Amino acid sequence: MAPIISPSILSADFATLGAEVAAIDAAGADFIHVDVMDGHFVPNLTIGPGVVKALRPHSAKPFDVHLMISPVDPYLKAFADAGANILSVHPEAGPHLHRTLQTIAGFGVTPGVVLNPGTPVAAIEPVLDLVGLVLVMTVNPGFGGQSFLESQLPKMEAVRRLIDATGRDIHLEVDGGVNPQTAQQCVNAGATALVAGTAVFKGGPSAYADNIAALKSAGS
Ligand code: DX5
Ligand code: ZN
Repeated sequence: MAPIISPSILSADFATLGAEVAAIDAAGADFIHVDVMDGHFVPNLTIGPGVVKALRPHSAKPFDVHLMISPVDPYLKAFADAGANILSVHPEAGPHLHRTLQTIAGFGVTPGVVLNPGTPVAAIEPVLDLVGLVLVMTVNPGFGGQSFLESQLPKMEAVRRLIDATGRDIHLEVDGGVNPQTAQQCVNAGATALVAGTAVFKGGPSAYADNIAALKSAGS
């Protein structure tokens, strides 16, 4: 089955973000990936819930919101109210990962958990029953345009085995350095959803449909 494509708007033109979201929606995006950074948990600052709320009318596709902020708990409600459909958090972002995921589910939003390149799979095993998505980072979080870390492929395979053992339909998403070549490697390792910033937004709006199709077919 073709993978879900979740373009990261971190690589969009921030001066016309609403139009960019509408353009990737029309070009075949399945999800809209929103990278939220606080300049503290990761060394970059991006957007907050006000921007997510402003973007909401520009696409009916699920908003896949990746929270790279710490503390994260005080902001969950604001992102849920802003229209996030998936809220993904890093285990390192707060002292009580299980409680954080319960809180997200309590808002009627799908909880996701993220593995940094240096974080072992064991960090998420005790919370798998709570999540609808596991995100494996194939770069260190903070910036678009970094190179794919092939060292994370065995981790994807290990997460795939854990997900299969649950018998539940949990997305296995990959984020960082995804292009048509690395997309194939990720799907072979068990990924079902691919985040891509650079590979989707390169060439401007007239190229988005071809860029998304290239990722889909590389992975199918
Ligand atoms: C990195 C972000 C990614 C990033 C991906 O911290 O989580 O979503 O935007 O960008 P590319 O696809 O350019 O590596
Ligand atoms: Zn991301």
